[in-house]
Amino acid sequence: MEATPEPGISGAGFPVRRMRRLRRTPALRRLVAETSLGVDDLVAPLFVRAGISDRVPISSLPGHFQHSSSSLVVEAKRLASLGVPGIVLFGVPDEKDAVGSGAWDPDGVVQVALSELRSALGDTMVLIADLCLDEYTDHGHCGVLRADGTVDNDATLELYQRVALAQAVAGADVVAPSGMMDGQVGAIRTALDGAGHIDVAVLAYAAKFASGLYGPFRDAVDVTITGGGDRLGYQQDPRNGREALTEVALDIAEGADMVMVKPALAYLDVIAAVAQRVDVPVAAYHVSGEYSMVKAAAERGWIDGDAVALEHLIALKRAGANIILTYFAGEVAEAMRD
Ligand code: PBG
Repeated sequence: MEATPEPGISGAGFPVRRMRRLRRTPALRRLVAETSLGVDDLVAPLFVRAGISDRVPISSLPGHFQHSSSSLVVEAKRLASLGVPGIVLFGVPDEKDAVGSGAWDPDGVVQVALSELRSALGDTMVLIADLCLDEYTDHGHCGVLRADGTVDNDATLELYQRVALAQAVAGADVVAPSGMMDGQVGAIRTALDGAGHIDVAVLAYAAKFASGLYGPFRDAVDVTITGGGDRLGYQQDPRNGREALTEVALDIAEGADMVMVKPALAYLDVIAAVAQRVDVPVAAYHVSGEYSMVKAAAERGWIDGDAVALEHLIALKRAGANIILTYFAGEVAEAMRD
């Protein structure tokens, strides 16, 4: 429907369509707003580090910390009391190895944290576990390496199955595979179902691009890819939008309950295309670099950080995202409460 009202005649004698009528008062603007951002849309990423008793600030993510297991529970409770419905958890182990065995160790940092969070929070918050190996491997890749240094897809899938089971046993509501291995969703779904974890959902990092915007995150989890390596062999090329739709379709066919696009703002076209095509919930990850850019510019007084943060998150809703993973979750929830 193309509804174009007749233009009126301006004082100067030419026709003007009066768009500003509906922008006149806050109530009018509220009434005609097409998009809304609410606390229910938000998921807060949190980091938990093994072997520390006090939380450690992450300098490149102002306001965020590597949590100890006890400060993690305090922060999760605070977010729950603000109404944030979910958190996504990342672990920083005290030891790393070639295969990332800390990722599926029942006593590994995330598993312990999940069970503590579950006892502290019950079902009041959705506990999402990022499912990957890079925080746990000494080489920093998201999978195991072949002798030539490339990531072995299918050998990695078997390890992801172990991680999924460990996270499910520890109490995750949702596992979120972020390694961009082919077949990862199907492998994880098979493992979960085979062990009776039919209620554990999969949030697939379906279209995850090889991005420079993950820099602060890698500081947060102490990950350096050895030899100056990169993830271009498994994460997506930022030049490709249609390919993202194939990735999403495959993940849904393999059993993903929700799909994610990541990063967010540089991929609004992808979010919009995915949201138009799929029926499952669509998540967007507003990643560490997106947060840090806002914080850094605001610190210099160059932008109004609070306003820009809201503008970013609203843009994701406008593009069609249903769920937003963002380091702004706590701040935005606080602002909405006030
Ligand atoms: C991989 C993972 C990454 C992020 C989430 N999961 C890093 C990467 O792919 O290098 C990045 C999140 C962010 O930048 O906020 N486990």
